[in-house]
Amino acid sequence: MSFPPTTTPHAPARQPDTWPALLVTGGCGFIGSRFVERWRAAHPAQPVVVLDSLTYAGRPENLAGLWGPALHLEVASITDADAVRRVCDQYGVGGIVNFAAQTHVDQSILGSLEFTHTNVLGTHTLLEVARERGIHLHQVSTDEVYGDVPAPHHSLETDPLTPRSPYAASKAAADHLVLAYHQTHGSSVTVTRAANNVGPRQHLEKALALFATNALLGLPLPLYGDGLQQRDYMHVDDHCAAIELVLRGGASGGVFNVGTGLELSNRRMAQLVTQALGLPDAPVRHVSDRPGHDRRYSLNTDRVQALGWAPDFTPEQAVLSAARWYAANRAWWEPIRRSEAFAAYYERQYAARLGAS
Ligand SMILES: NC(=O)c1ccc[n+]([C@@H]2O[C@H](COP(=O)([O-])OP(=O)(O)OC[C@H]3O[C@@H](n4cnc5c(N)ncnc54)[C@H](O)[C@@H]3O)[C@@H](O)[C@H]2O)c1
Repeated sequence: MSFPPTTTPHAPARQPDTWPALLVTGGCGFIGSRFVERWRAAHPAQPVVVLDSLTYAGRPENLAGLWGPALHLEVASITDADAVRRVCDQYGVGGIVNFAAQTHVDQSILGSLEFTHTNVLGTHTLLEVARERGIHLHQVSTDEVYGDVPAPHHSLETDPLTPRSPYAASKAAADHLVLAYHQTHGSSVTVTRAANNVGPRQHLEKALALFATNALLGLPLPLYGDGLQQRDYMHVDDHCAAIELVLRGGASGGVFNVGTGLELSNRRMAQLVTQALGLPDAPVRHVSDRPGHDRRYSLNTDRVQALGWAPDFTPEQAVLSAARWYAANRAWWEPIRRSEAFAAYYERQYAARLGAS
């Protein structure tokens, strides 16, 4: 499959700032809520609609203080075509940014049908509604669609997708559908594939948030395998800035990798977390590895850089800043930590592993 050019110096620019309304699906989650916060600050008069089914990962409190006449919450699933149609028509939606997804690899190993339902059928539903109404869809995807990337390669947007977890497979399937709609129906679409994000309000199931909150509670940090998996930890603000740029200037049908291009092992990430919290050493406990755990992700980001994007944070800076946020915001995470749902997940995921280590 050939892809169109990835920068559009001579093509008419998309003008998301002038759309009557922007629809952000999954806007109550970690990255979506930060994107909405930033978009609202830059476009105070433009209505934004958040459509979110409020799973365990979706919290309207993430946008506390912002709900009002220009920021609406619609509680519905992206798999519900009638709901998506109604919302698009009611608000005059000009474009969709799709963050809505089941997002945790370990949850997809425990049970993955919901991943296919939301990530594949949900994205497909958005594509259908967007096609009917001639509106733009930006799909928020992940570097995990490339699978394990042996050094020294950096994944290119044209590389084959070889996902190795049910989560990554469902995201790859969604990417294929998005690009197929562009080829077949001429749908206006863009895709970003980002590295591991860290920052405020990430759910506690994710590695950095788990390590920071465990460390603050005096609990061990369960590190999978030897902890030498290589990741490109990027700050959520850098990711959101890239999405904003691609939404405006990325050619339709274009895919854009987003990451710092730098690598950090999970073991080093755990050390940085404890350093940020002022603890003497990292109370790491090596536990049995995640099945099919990818050793390395690494992205070539020339395309998004050609649009003018550059990260503000190195992985080290991103990790230190995110860890400090958990120290300063216990009121945000303690209720999640105390919830039955999280306790059940933690028990299922880590009790036997920690007991055996
Ligand atoms: N977190 C990362 O490191 C990372 C990296 C690259 C890409 N991504 C992608 O970014 C997007 C957002 O990730 P996140 O970490 O913010 O996730 P998250 O789990 O924090 O939030 C997901 C949001 O989607 C909502 N949602 C789930 N199913 C839904 C459905 N059927 N209909 C409507 N809403 C639904 C949830 O309620 C929640 O608000 C995802 O598509 C993910 O694949 C994440």
